[in-house]
Amino acid sequence: MRLFDVMSPPEVLTEIQRATAESGFGMASEPLTGTLLRTLAASKPAGRFLEIGTGTGIGTAWLLDGMDAASTLVTIDNAAAPSAIAQRFLGHDSRVRFLVQDAEVWLKQQGGDQFDLIFADSFPGKFYALDEALHMLKVGGLYVIDDLLPQSNWPEGHQTNVDRLITTLSNRDSLRLTKLAWASGIILATKITQ
Ligand SMILES: C[S@@+](CC[C@H](N)C(=O)[O-])C[C@H]1O[C@@H](n2cnc3c(N)ncnc32)[C@H](O)[C@@H]1O
Repeated sequence: MRLFDVMSPPEVLTEIQRATAESGFGMASEPLTGTLLRTLAASKPAGRFLEIGTGTGIGTAWLLDGMDAASTLVTIDNAAAPSAIAQRFLGHDSRVRFLVQDAEVWLKQQGGDQFDLIFADSFPGKFYALDEALHMLKVGGLYVIDDLLPQSNWPEGHQTNVDRLITTLSNRDSLRLTKLAWASGIILATKITQ
């Protein structure tokens, strides 16, 4: 066993990956991100989880695999087609609620809802509506983002957005963060004050 070997992925993952490839969806999380999400999810018994950017449900499957029976997950995507793949394979799990709507609008509409872990895997909650997302994180809660190392599918100029985001997060007194050269490049942050 080597450091980057992926251990016992969720059983449903192979089917989701096949459907993802058939659909042409090219933004799926990689397995090393998934293992980290699963481990973090397992640290929050009876946790409340939020994923921004369901995609085809790959991160969703890993999160569910780490969550206990009392935990719940809300996952949101504004694109119906990838979300339908996620719902086809994971919709039977009563712990997860799928929302198909714009996450920026949704984040701005939320009141006092609080989460133990937010995986912000979309522009909203990351490059914009960041304050709204962090506001929804409990003190002691975890904020996770990936795709921070250069990716072949980045739009022109995206490195500037990423650099600005890393600086913004690094300067927040309310967060304790670690930058990980793991998978596609991850920031893992704990909120220490409201
Ligand atoms: C990187 S992919 C998510 C991958 C997924 N979390 C996984 O683990 O495979 C980003 C997703 O964000 C969605 N998205 C983009 N803009 C959005 C918005 N304004 N509101 C909600 N979802 C959005 C895209 O449709 C896409 O499915």
